Amino acid sequence: MASVSVDEAMRRAIELAARGLGTTSPNPVVGCVLLDTEGEVVGEGFHAYAGGPHAEIVALAQAGARARGGTAVVTLEPCDHTGRTGPCSHALIAAGVSRVVIAVPDPNPVASGGAATLRAAGVQVALGVRAQEAEAGNVAWLTSMRRGWPYVIWKYAATLDGRSAAADGTSMWITSEAARVDVHALRGTVDAVLAGVGTVLTDDPRLTARNLRDGTLAIRQPLRVVVDSSGRTPADARVRDGAARTWVATAAEVGAGPDGRVDLAALLAELHHRGVRAALLEGGPTLAGAFLAAGLIDRIVGYVAPKLLGAGPTALLDAGVSTIADAIDLEITDVTRVGPDLRITALPRKREG
Ligand SMILES: NC(=O)c1ccc[n+]([C@@H]2O[C@H](COP(=O)([O-])OP(=O)(O)OC[C@H]3O[C@@H](n4cnc5c(N)ncnc54)[C@H](OP(=O)(O)O)[C@@H]3O)[C@@H](O)[C@H]2O)c1
Repeated sequence: MASVSVDEAMRRAIELAARGLGTTSPNPVVGCVLLDTEGEVVGEGFHAYAGGPHAEIVALAQAGARARGGTAVVTLEPCDHTGRTGPCSHALIAAGVSRVVIAVPDPNPVASGGAATLRAAGVQVALGVRAQEAEAGNVAWLTSMRRGWPYVIWKYAATLDGRSAAADGTSMWITSEAARVDVHALRGTVDAVLAGVGTVLTDDPRLTARNLRDGTLAIRQPLRVVVDSSGRTPADARVRDGAARTWVATAAEVGAGPDGRVDLAALLAELHHRGVRAALLEGGPTLAGAFLAAGLIDRIVGYVAPKLLGAGPTALLDAGVSTIADAIDLEITDVTRVGPDLRITALPRKREG
């Protein structure tokens, strides 16, 4: 087999890491490629699920004795602690790997230190190869670990004139089946789905990740969270069915903000504590406005249908903006056609001061 460069190997490791998206939480996604002394690929691995073997261990098992003297190319600094599995730094040293190339250092204080352990054992360590790309592939986990609360994606559906329902309240369906299938795939990549009690009372959604054609539930279901200050979620609401775990987060349990409603920062801190690294906020417009006003949204995914309504509720209510100079500026990072609809992905620009 032909030899590959470390850069090519890292590109492959990033691809491998992505296969774990949605199933590794509360752990990161990680990919690893092992090259022998000639630069030939002798092992590949990715972390598939929490508690399962780490990417390095999978790649080392494939490589066997051929790892000796070789190079491990890994998207995240190898862990240095014994959790549900042993430290990867020690496994790499024991296998006789002579060089470890890392894209991104581990921000998790519990697991970091792998690079230092490797260096102390005489292993050459290089950091920063394809760091931006690897960072993007792990953005939710890295962001949440660095700051202590989940990466929050606000998803909404609207007509081209920004409406989320018609004047009579009907809203099913604004977007196409293709867009709704896409949303279910998005739910499958996060650890929690959030909705305000207003949406639960009006639409009675299930908030599960499932196959829209036959209703089959995805194997891994995100935690369903209803943000409900005074516990108005009906006992027979669909979110309370047994299809997935549900948490009705009340102000009494989480804490109240100055308006008496659920304190959103405290809610996110509690979700982080419960192992949630990526959360999908599915609305509605009141809760989305409150999250945006508090600067708690990291990414926006808007599904825009080629329809006009001219009247009816808008997809977003008060977000703390009263004058154009205060508009929440966005950077559009992707525009994709999904069936007849557009999926627009945007990042809120950080505000000054
Ligand atoms: N197009 C879309 O993508 C989309 C998505 C979802 C929903 N919707 C539509 O939205 C409509 C419901 O709108 P909505 O605005 O009433 O629902 P919502 O945003 O889901 O729920 C709002 C409620 O959340 C509760 N809440 C708890 N803590 C809060 C906080 N810190 N800040 C703000 N709210 C907090 C409040 O009730 P308490 O104070 O009692 O807790 C508030 O009334 C439905 O018609 C639904 O179809 C559209």
